[in-house]
Amino acid sequence: KRLVLIGPPGSGKGTQSPIIKDDYCLCHLATGDMLRAAVAAKTPLGIKAKEAMDKGELVSDDLVVGIIDEAMKKPSCEKGFILDGFPRTVTQAEKLDEMLQKQGTKIDKVLNFAIDDSILEERITGRWIHPTSGRTYHTKFAPPKVPGIDDVTGEPLIQRKDDTPQVLRSRLEAFHKQTEPVIDYYTKKGVLSQLQAEKAPKQVTAEVQKVLSS
Ligand code: AP5
Ligand code: ZN
Repeated sequence: KRLVLIGPPGSGKGTQSPIIKDDYCLCHLATGDMLRAAVAAKTPLGIKAKEAMDKGELVSDDLVVGIIDEAMKKPSCEKGFILDGFPRTVTQAEKLDEMLQKQGTKIDKVLNFAIDDSILEERITGRWIHPTSGRTYHTKFAPPKVPGIDDVTGEPLIQRKDDTPQVLRSRLEAFHKQTEPVIDYYTKKGVLSQLQAEKAPKQVTAEVQKVLSS
């Protein structure tokens, strides 16, 4: 399967991805995770991306298209992939179609994590992550066994630098202006499915499984 997950910050893309990945043996390509790793490692890509990310703005199309093009060549992506946070502009969606056309493939399904903006601040400000594995927790909705500590490794959890109410506002603005047109793009292609992303995590997982098995 070749899947795209679209949704605003905190809508649950990164929470559902590992579950879908394991169920269908897909690779999980999250542009945000890849960019954060590049920023942490201070690579040339990370240095270019940092300023936009800190402000909650989108990184340039060329940079992210380049990292996705590279990442899709991994052997683990042969059976299919989950694109989490990409494409986020119509230009990115068109570039993705071109890349896939060259391989004779296309996107099978696009899951739209529909959710009201008002719910997102609580989700974002309560999020804690284990940076090396990408495991995500929430102080209220998915607390770790010991506060601030990863359940599996016992290592410390961190908060994302852009998970503040102020930066969330620009991330949401970018979503509405630049990413919502991508939803129309895939609706016209007839591949879009809606999810009610404000439901509890397990209920969202059940909806995802229903869409993917149909
Ligand atoms: P990115 O990392 O993609 O961030 P985002 O889109 O803002 O999305 P999030 O990761 O915040 O949300 P999520 O849906 O994954 O939420 P999660 O499941 O963790 O991008 C970051 C930045 O990188 C961008 O601002 C941009 O600068 C750059 N970038 C990335 N891709 C780009 C691109 N293609 N083009 C240009 N720039 C790009 O859930 C959030 C919290 O809620 C967690 O604590 C979780 O436990 C909890 N939670 C999840 N589901 C539920 C539920 N159902 N009920 C209750 N709580 C829940
Ligand atoms: Zn995410």
